[in-house]
Amino acid sequence: MQKWYQYCLVALSALTVAHASAGSTSTSDDFAAACYSEPLPLLPVSPDNRTIPWGIPSIVTGNTTCCSSLDEVRAGIDAVDAQLLSLLSQRAAFVREATRFKATHDVVDVPSRDQQVNDGAVADAPAVNLPQTIARAVFSAIINASVPFELCIVCLSSLLCFYRC
Ligand SMILES: *[C@@H]1O[C@H](CO)[C@@H](O)[C@H](O)[C@H]1NC(C)=O
Ligand SMILES: *[C@@H]1O[C@H](CO)[C@@H](O)[C@H](O)[C@H]1NC(C)=O
Ligand SMILES: *[C@@H]1O[C@H](CO)[C@@H](O)[C@H](O)[C@H]1NC(C)=O
Repeated sequence: MQKWYQYCLVALSALTVAHASAGSTSTSDDFAAACYSEPLPLLPVSPDNRTIPWGIPSIVTGNTTCCSSLDEVRAGIDAVDAQLLSLLSQRAAFVREATRFKATHDVVDVPSRDQQVNDGAVADAPAVNLPQTIARAVFSAIINASVPFELCIVCLSSLLCFYRC
Protein backbone atom coordinates (compact mmCIF):
# COMPACT_ATOMS: atom_id res chain seq x y z
CA MET A 1 0.00 0.00 0.00
CA GLN A 2 2.77 2.32 1.08
CA LYS A 3 4.78 1.41 -2.01
CA TRP A 4 1.85 2.00 -4.35
CA TYR A 5 1.31 5.40 -2.82
CA GLN A 6 4.96 6.28 -3.45
CA TYR A 7 4.70 5.11 -7.06
CA CYS A 8 1.72 7.38 -7.60
CA LEU A 9 3.51 10.35 -6.12
CA VAL A 10 6.51 9.72 -8.36
CA ALA A 11 4.23 9.23 -11.36
CA LEU A 12 2.47 12.50 -10.66
CA SER A 13 5.71 14.43 -10.30
CA ALA A 14 7.06 12.79 -13.47
CA LEU A 15 3.99 13.90 -15.39
CA THR A 16 4.44 17.41 -14.02
CA VAL A 17 8.10 17.39 -15.09
CA ALA A 18 7.13 16.03 -18.51
CA HIS A 19 4.56 18.75 -18.93
CA ALA A 20 6.91 21.48 -17.72
CA SER A 21 9.85 20.44 -19.92
CA ALA A 22 7.62 19.84 -22.93
CA GLY A 23 6.29 23.34 -22.46
CA SER A 24 9.80 24.74 -22.56
CA THR A 25 10.59 23.27 -25.98
CA SER A 26 9.39 25.30 -28.91
CA THR A 27 9.00 22.37 -31.31
CA SER A 28 6.45 20.06 -29.72
CA ASP A 29 4.46 19.23 -26.67
CA ASP A 30 5.89 15.73 -26.17
CA PHE A 31 4.14 13.75 -23.44
CA ALA A 32 7.20 11.45 -23.32
CA ALA A 33 9.72 14.22 -22.50
CA ALA A 34 10.48 12.79 -19.04
CA CYS A 35 11.78 9.61 -20.69
CA TYR A 36 14.57 11.54 -22.46
CA SER A 37 16.44 12.67 -19.34
CA GLU A 38 17.92 10.98 -16.31
CA PRO A 39 16.85 9.71 -13.93
CA LEU A 40 13.92 8.00 -15.58
CA PRO A 41 10.67 8.43 -13.66
CA LEU A 42 9.64 5.39 -11.63
CA LEU A 43 6.18 4.60 -12.94
CA PRO A 44 3.71 1.81 -12.20
CA VAL A 45 3.03 -0.74 -14.97
CA SER A 46 0.07 0.41 -17.02
CA PRO A 47 -2.91 -1.95 -16.90
CA ASP A 48 -4.11 -0.59 -20.27
CA ASN A 49 -4.87 -2.90 -23.17
CA ARG A 50 -4.93 -0.35 -25.94
CA THR A 51 -6.41 -0.30 -29.37
CA ILE A 52 -3.40 -0.08 -31.68
CA PRO A 53 -1.94 1.99 -33.13
CA TRP A 54 -2.45 4.51 -30.33
CA GLY A 55 -1.18 8.09 -30.19
CA ILE A 56 0.11 9.95 -33.21
CA PRO A 57 3.22 9.20 -35.33
CA SER A 58 6.21 10.81 -33.65
CA ILE A 59 8.77 10.85 -36.46
CA VAL A 60 8.35 13.82 -38.76
CA THR A 61 10.77 14.30 -41.64
CA GLY A 62 9.99 17.15 -44.00
CA ASN A 63 6.38 16.64 -44.95
CA THR A 64 6.26 12.91 -44.15
CA THR A 65 5.49 11.18 -40.86
CA CYS A 66 6.40 7.72 -39.65
CA CYS A 67 5.17 5.19 -38.86
CA SER A 68 1.94 3.51 -39.87
CA SER A 69 2.92 -0.11 -39.18
CA LEU A 70 5.35 -2.15 -37.08
CA ASP A 71 6.98 -3.37 -40.33
CA GLU A 72 7.69 0.24 -41.26
CA VAL A 73 9.17 0.84 -37.79
CA ARG A 74 11.42 -2.22 -38.11
CA ALA A 75 12.59 -1.25 -41.59
CA GLY A 76 13.57 2.14 -40.15
CA ILE A 77 15.45 0.52 -37.27
CA ASP A 78 17.25 -1.86 -39.66
CA ALA A 79 18.37 1.07 -41.80
CA VAL A 80 19.71 2.94 -38.76
CA ASP A 81 21.44 -0.22 -37.47
CA ALA A 82 23.29 -0.56 -40.79
CA GLN A 83 24.59 2.98 -40.32
CA LEU A 84 25.50 2.23 -36.70
CA LEU A 85 27.56 -0.80 -37.79
CA SER A 86 29.43 1.33 -40.28
CA LEU A 87 30.05 4.06 -37.69
CA LEU A 88 31.22 1.51 -35.11
CA SER A 89 33.62 0.10 -37.69
CA GLN A 90 35.05 3.58 -38.21
CA ARG A 91 35.33 4.06 -34.46
CA ALA A 92 37.08 0.70 -34.02
CA ALA A 93 39.57 1.75 -36.70
CA PHE A 94 40.48 4.79 -34.58
CA VAL A 95 40.66 2.64 -31.45
CA ARG A 96 43.13 0.39 -33.25
CA GLU A 97 45.10 3.42 -34.41
CA ALA A 98 45.28 4.69 -30.83
CA THR A 99 47.39 1.68 -29.83
CA ARG A 100 50.22 3.01 -32.04
CA PHE A 101 50.58 5.87 -29.57
CA LYS A 102 50.74 3.70 -26.47
CA ALA A 103 54.15 2.47 -25.43
CA THR A 104 53.11 -0.28 -23.03
CA HIS A 105 50.20 -2.62 -22.35
CA ASP A 106 49.59 -0.92 -19.01
CA VAL A 107 48.65 2.46 -20.51
CA VAL A 108 46.11 1.10 -23.02
CA ASP A 109 43.11 1.87 -20.84
CA VAL A 110 42.78 5.39 -19.49
CA PRO A 111 39.80 5.35 -17.08
CA SER A 112 39.64 9.15 -16.89
CA ARG A 113 39.31 9.34 -20.69
CA ASP A 114 36.63 6.60 -20.61
CA GLN A 115 34.71 8.60 -18.03
CA GLN A 116 35.07 11.77 -20.10
CA VAL A 117 33.66 10.05 -23.22
CA ASN A 118 30.73 8.57 -21.26
CA ASP A 119 29.88 11.80 -19.48
CA GLY A 120 30.21 13.79 -22.70
CA ALA A 121 27.77 11.50 -24.51
CA VAL A 122 25.21 11.76 -21.70
CA ALA A 123 25.60 15.56 -21.55
CA ASP A 124 25.28 15.98 -25.34
CA ALA A 125 22.36 13.58 -25.74
CA PRO A 126 19.54 16.10 -25.14
CA ALA A 127 20.84 18.38 -27.91
CA VAL A 128 20.25 15.59 -30.44
CA ASN A 129 17.06 14.35 -28.79
CA LEU A 130 18.74 11.10 -27.67
CA PRO A 131 17.43 9.64 -24.40
CA GLN A 132 20.22 9.99 -21.83
CA THR A 133 19.62 6.48 -20.53
CA ILE A 134 20.44 5.13 -24.02
CA ALA A 135 23.50 7.37 -24.39
CA ARG A 136 24.90 6.19 -21.05
CA ALA A 137 24.33 2.47 -21.63
CA VAL A 138 25.54 2.45 -25.23
CA PHE A 139 28.71 4.49 -24.67
CA SER A 140 29.51 2.46 -21.58
CA ALA A 141 29.18 -0.72 -23.66
CA ILE A 142 31.22 0.70 -26.57
CA ILE A 143 34.06 1.61 -24.24
CA ASN A 144 33.90 -1.67 -22.34
CA ALA A 145 34.16 -3.53 -25.63
CA SER A 146 36.89 -1.28 -27.02
CA VAL A 147 39.34 -1.81 -24.15
CA PRO A 148 39.75 -5.60 -24.68
CA PHE A 149 39.93 -5.00 -28.44
CA GLU A 150 42.71 -2.46 -27.94
CA LEU A 151 44.52 -4.79 -25.53
CA CYS A 152 44.27 -7.59 -28.11
CA ILE A 153 45.94 -5.43 -30.76
CA VAL A 154 48.71 -4.53 -28.35
CA CYS A 155 49.14 -8.20 -27.34
CA LEU A 156 49.45 -9.47 -30.89
CA SER A 157 52.06 -6.85 -31.64
CA SER A 158 54.26 -8.05 -28.79
CA LEU A 159 55.45 -11.47 -27.75
CA LEU A 160 56.01 -10.11 -24.25
CA CYS A 161 52.32 -9.63 -23.59
CA PHE A 162 50.59 -12.19 -21.36
CA TYR A 163 47.10 -10.71 -21.45
CA ARG A 164 44.59 -13.30 -22.66
CA CYS A 165 42.95 -11.68 -25.70
C1 LIG B 1 -6.31 -7.20 -25.15
O1 LIG B 1 -7.52 -7.01 -25.85
C2 LIG B 1 -7.67 -7.86 -27.00
C3 LIG B 1 -8.92 -7.41 -27.76
O2 LIG B 1 -10.01 -7.27 -26.88
C4 LIG B 1 -7.73 -9.29 -26.53
O3 LIG B 1 -7.88 -10.16 -27.63
C5 LIG B 1 -6.45 -9.62 -25.79
O4 LIG B 1 -6.50 -10.93 -25.27
C6 LIG B 1 -6.20 -8.63 -24.65
N1 LIG B 1 -4.88 -8.88 -24.09
C7 LIG B 1 -4.65 -8.88 -22.79
C8 LIG B 1 -3.24 -9.16 -22.36
O5 LIG B 1 -5.52 -8.65 -21.96
C1 LIG C 1 6.36 16.57 -49.89
O1 LIG C 1 7.68 16.12 -50.19
C2 LIG C 1 7.81 15.52 -51.46
C3 LIG C 1 9.22 14.94 -51.57
O2 LIG C 1 10.16 15.80 -51.03
C4 LIG C 1 7.50 16.56 -52.53
O3 LIG C 1 7.62 15.96 -53.80
C5 LIG C 1 6.09 17.08 -52.31
O4 LIG C 1 5.83 18.15 -53.21
C6 LIG C 1 5.91 17.60 -50.90
N1 LIG C 1 4.50 17.93 -50.66
C7 LIG C 1 4.13 19.04 -50.02
C8 LIG C 1 2.65 19.20 -49.86
O5 LIG C 1 4.91 19.86 -49.61
C1 LIG D 1 31.30 -1.14 -18.22
O1 LIG D 1 32.27 -1.40 -17.24
C2 LIG D 1 32.06 -0.68 -16.04
C3 LIG D 1 33.26 -0.94 -15.13
O2 LIG D 1 33.49 -2.30 -15.02
C4 LIG D 1 30.74 -1.12 -15.42
O3 LIG D 1 30.48 -0.38 -14.26
C5 LIG D 1 29.62 -0.88 -16.42
O4 LIG D 1 28.41 -1.39 -15.94
C6 LIG D 1 29.93 -1.54 -17.75
N1 LIG D 1 28.92 -1.16 -18.73
C7 LIG D 1 28.28 -2.03 -19.48
C8 LIG D 1 27.27 -1.47 -20.40
O5 LIG D 1 28.49 -3.22 -19.43
